[in-house]
Amino acid sequence: MRGKMKKIVLSGIKPTGIPTLGNYLGALKNFVKLQNEMKDYEFFIFIADLHAITVPQDPKELKQNIKNLAAIYLAAGLVPERTTLFVQSEINEHAALGFVMQSISYMGELERMTQYKDKMQKQVQGVSSALFTYPSLMAADILLYDAEYVPVGDDQKQHLELTRDLAIRFNNRFGETFVVPEGLISEKGARIMDLQDPSKKMDKSSEGERGCVFLLDPLSTIKKKIKSAVTDSEAQVRYDKDNKPGISNLMTIYSLISELSYEEIEEKYTSRGYGDFKKDLAELVAGEIEVVQNRYREIINSGKLDALFDQGKEKAKVLAAKKLHKVYKKIGLGRY
Ligand code: AMP
Ligand code: TRP
Repeated sequence: MRGKMKKIVLSGIKPTGIPTLGNYLGALKNFVKLQNEMKDYEFFIFIADLHAITVPQDPKELKQNIKNLAAIYLAAGLVPERTTLFVQSEINEHAALGFVMQSISYMGELERMTQYKDKMQKQVQGVSSALFTYPSLMAADILLYDAEYVPVGDDQKQHLELTRDLAIRFNNRFGETFVVPEGLISEKGARIMDLQDPSKKMDKSSEGERGCVFLLDPLSTIKKKIKSAVTDSEAQVRYDKDNKPGISNLMTIYSLISELSYEEIEEKYTSRGYGDFKKDLAELVAGEIEVVQNRYREIINSGKLDALFDQGKEKAKVLAAKKLHKVYKKIGLGRY
């Protein structure tokens, strides 16, 4: 067992482009909240750069995105005293255990992954085999550290279920080795939708940028995007996800930032139109992101990032190496 080590909560984000308001509300803000609340747990949050290259990346941009995401993690409120921060590719054990996980994953179960099917449809040419085996690598990321909880957005639910299946399968075949993790998917904010097309999730890679708020957008752009979000013709601020997806999505964003409930928001805007509501929401979102951006600028220019990530790497490496050794031994790989 892990001796004195606390139980672990782990998650990661891909350094592809600038994180969005969806990443912030569905993942980052949640990581920070949990970090501050779950005092009995230790947090491991990493930059999933190996996952990023499952679709083509420009090397210079990728490097910059890794730095940006590192700074954004800290700017959002993750603190190194509570959270071990590291870069996935700096710990070779991820790729190695990823291969082991591939060897116990079935084609059929990987073929069922909806994220793969979606991406496959969008990218007609040159779909990499790594895009297909991506969930096996994600399972390795989690199982390497015996994580008990994995906070993610709704789109990762299926990958987490696969991770659980693989952990159980491995344990059954080779003996108790992995902790079977649980997803922590918040009820609200797990799926922030595109501001222009609320039937799609807000996504870094979506073509129309107007529907997607990026955390490093100028504040004036952020406000403009919120104010021009698609709503409906009823002109009543009321939460009804099925019939009023646009305004309901905006209410979710409002609620997560202001901590008001849907009922309280409805009451506040009973006799006021969408214009007022959106104006207030634009200020709320810009206000919250402004704080993150200010801290981001300080951090990215401070030169502190490297030392922090070196520290994280060292700590993660010890656990990862130990676990991989155990796995190899159980399977019969190598000579030891
Ligand atoms: P990614 O950028 O795909 O690496 O996603 C990083 C984290 O953000 C994952 O936990 C996702 O589930 C979450 N996420 C991404 N997009 C959204 C969204 N539109 N709403 C809520 N969570 C999201
Ligand atoms: N696949 C996740 C995403 O696209 C990112 C990720 C990779 C991850 N490995 C992980 C999340 C392990 C949680 C745990 O959002």
